[in-house]
Amino acid sequence: MTAPLVLIEHLVKSYRRGDQVVEVLRDISLAIPAGAFTALMGPSGSGKSTLLNLIAGIDKPDSGVLRIAGLDIAGMGESELAAWRAANVGFIFQFYNLMPVLTAFENVELPLLLTPLSRRERRERVALTLEMVNLADRMDHTPNELSGGQQQRVAIARAIVSDPTLIVADEPTGDLDRHSAAEILSLLQQLNQQLGKTIIMVTHDAQAAAQARNVVHLEKGELLADEPQRA
Ligand SMILES: Nc1ncnc2c1ncn2[C@@H]1O[C@H](COP(=O)(O)OP(=O)(O)O)[C@@H](O)[C@H]1O
Ligand SMILES: [Mg+2]
Repeated sequence: MTAPLVLIEHLVKSYRRGDQVVEVLRDISLAIPAGAFTALMGPSGSGKSTLLNLIAGIDKPDSGVLRIAGLDIAGMGESELAAWRAANVGFIFQFYNLMPVLTAFENVELPLLLTPLSRRERRERVALTLEMVNLADRMDHTPNELSGGQQQRVAIARAIVSDPTLIVADEPTGDLDRHSAAEILSLLQQLNQQLGKTIIMVTHDAQAAAQARNVVHLEKGELLADEPQRA
């Protein structure tokens, strides 16, 4: 038995608004094996983004266990966590979050500026990654010169260029038409099946969830029964 890549036990997270405490995640326990493609579904406000942000090390739980590849993420200090995140997690957002003044190439290169790679190694890696998402012919375009689907493919390239173990995506197809959404989902499939990336994707689109190999449902800060993992 190998340990799961993501291990969550009795995770609790609340936000404070004035003197009011909103309990967002009540008692979450979840194990995600390496190589999984997991969809996280649930109504708006159920805590999906909160849970994803905790897993990605963007936010911290109040209590409970949160281990990734055996490391206690919840116990890390800010700078340690930032370094861990840069090396291990690729984040894909609903609205792409690209830098508008940078070209596709420069957006994808950004995470590599924090690594010891040489300029030449960086450029090779960026070109290869843009080829992988089928945008080799668009690398000098800025985001406003690209369609939504193309911008999301740039964002995916940026998420995978540092070769992270874990890819988290928060409604990655939420702003896209059917055709572009299907392209993004097949790209995620490919990253999961061909490169062995572990993917956790928040969505409330059943068609998007159908691409995943297992689905986890969140309601009012609690997980409903897990559905069996499909082959
Ligand atoms: N930074 C925050 N401060 C206060 N409340 C928050 C914050 N982030 C999220 N919430 C609240 O937590 C609940 C869950 O939010 P979220 O995780 O974004 O849900 P989902 O992604 O499932 O729509 C909501 O009621 C939201 O208002
Ligand atoms: Mg959300």
